Amino acid sequence: DSAVAIPALILEWYDRSARRLPWRAMPGAPPPDPYRVWLSEVMLQQTTVAAVGRYFADFTTRWPTVADLAAADDAEVMAAWAGLGYYARARNLLACARAVTAAGGRFPDDEAGLRALPGIGDYTAAAVAAIAFGRRAVVVDANVERVVARLFAIDAPLPGSRPAIRAACDTITPDNRAGDFAQAMMDIGATICTPRKPVCALCPVNRHCAGFRAGDPERWPVKAAKKAR
Ligand code: ADE
Repeated sequence: DSAVAIPALILEWYDRSARRLPWRAMPGAPPPDPYRVWLSEVMLQQTTVAAVGRYFADFTTRWPTVADLAAADDAEVMAAWAGLGYYARARNLLACARAVTAAGGRFPDDEAGLRALPGIGDYTAAAVAAIAFGRRAVVVDANVERVVARLFAIDAPLPGSRPAIRAACDTITPDNRAGDFAQAMMDIGATICTPRKPVCALCPVNRHCAGFRAGDPERWPVKAAKKAR
């Protein structure tokens, strides 16, 4: 049954092949600091893993805790953010750090509480709840969207297919280790199930993948035809 087999294979793959990224705990280790998870997820929304590395190191060295960031000078944070782009994100980052600190310094430990904070949307709330707090949450970014669309050969075009992709991802999300599962899906999307020339031979779930079986995984995710104008 693929709802059981797929997450088990993906977690096994993660135990062997997870990218060693600075904000991650090793697979199976206790969850990492929620502050570091939140900071990395906000940074990763607009920038690649490779580019985020030095910003993450810089921020966590200068502001090791959420209280340190909350107390930081606005202009210094904006300057440290320069290069990551989307300055509204940096302003929200500070607003969020200050809200968490004012409320006692701990991040809320579930999606609803996280979503109520400045700058935290559905994706970030789900990612932090799963990765930092071990909550079962359905975490779908663009990489995960592609993996799921291929795995289930979801023929409806994006963006209208988002609810169907999310529902399909829900069916394979495990109750335990949802954070490792989410990060495994992101890694598979970034390194194996790439937009062009996916390396299906390396994929732990190729035998469950409808896109692979069809012989043309690149066909998914289907994108809506651009409107002529
Ligand atoms: N992209 C966004 N969040 C990520 C994470 N936790 N690991 C890898 N890639 C990501």
